Amino acid sequence: MKALVLAGGTGSRLRPITHTSAKQLVPIANKPVLFYGLEAIRDSGIRDVGIITGETGAEVRGAVGDGSRFGLSVTYIPQEAPLGLAHCVLIAREFLGDDAFLMYLGDNFVINGIRGFVDEFRSRRPDAQLLLTKVADPTQFGVAELDVGGRVIGVAEKPDRPKSDLALAGIYMFTPVIHPIVAELQPGRRGELEITDAIQELILRRADVTSHVITGYWKDTGKVEDMLECNRMVLEGLAPRMSGAVDSESEIIGRMEIAEDAVVVRSRLVGPLSIGPGAVVTDSYVGPFTSVGPGCRLDSTEIEYSIVMDRSSVSGVGRIHNSLIGKEVDISPAASAPRGHQLIVGDHSRVRLDH
Ligand code: TTP
Repeated sequence: MKALVLAGGTGSRLRPITHTSAKQLVPIANKPVLFYGLEAIRDSGIRDVGIITGETGAEVRGAVGDGSRFGLSVTYIPQEAPLGLAHCVLIAREFLGDDAFLMYLGDNFVINGIRGFVDEFRSRRPDAQLLLTKVADPTQFGVAELDVGGRVIGVAEKPDRPKSDLALAGIYMFTPVIHPIVAELQPGRRGELEITDAIQELILRRADVTSHVITGYWKDTGKVEDMLECNRMVLEGLAPRMSGAVDSESEIIGRMEIAEDAVVVRSRLVGPLSIGPGAVVTDSYVGPFTSVGPGCRLDSTEIEYSIVMDRSSVSGVGRIHNSLIGKEVDISPAASAPRGHQLIVGDHSRVRLDH
């Protein structure tokens, strides 16, 4: 059995971060979201993984390498443009061969792994199996319709009138019967080869499509709000670790991870939170559900419920919250009056200012 991990795409909902970086590499508690998925795949007993990459392929390769440090063997499959989830299956045909495979969207996050899901597929051997999760608003998702035995009898993409509250969680098992269907598929309304169309065709051809409903936490981290929420969830379960240096004038409350070579001076830290390697925090407040990346500098600042990525610096500004701050960003107060904001921000940025 193999795995196909999708780490290309446009990432339009996470701009401007995705103008320069892969969304699958945005850190959750200081670890790229993609790494949680790769670890879950490894823990389910799969070793051979194909990773679909797009424009950010070099960055993904740099981060994951040959997969050996995850206990995986990784093959990269470049996709010339984000032509759809089913297009990824099409271009992976040679890699997948005649094996059954797990398909995993690289920005999806499940907290308790996928072992139960993969084991159920191994023992039942249906033609395909979908991971489903209950959602509050099914009109925003691909939605499955089930019969009383849990077999999938229909799937619809963002339906106006959903047939259930069970959304497709972006993790699927397929057998080679999917390949001829994908090969004949026509682009859908969005101009992409849609995996839901391929699954619907499987059902029409009377294939055995089963489902597995997860009860634990699942998140598609496609938007900033989802990233922050996922960061909160992971920090809640963090194993405390104190490898950095905290001076005696600092106050430390709650669960946290302070990585090696991090320095905390005259600051108040209220967990759960994560401070990355080599980060320096002085005269600041870092509040719950915050991840501060490697090499960051926080000085005379208050921040909470936020992710700050590698080597960014925040100094002397008021409270920052609900924020996703990219790499090597510099946030500081203007040097002198007149009062006003000076902003140098990339395309598609979102800035909320306190006036
Ligand atoms: P999506 O989040 O559905 O699409 P996207 O990455 O283009 O993002 P947005 O909607 O914000 O523009 O994709 C799910 C996952 O699959 C994600 O990890 C990217 C990946 N993907 C590919 O690798 N190739 C593709 O052609 C598409 C559509 C997605």
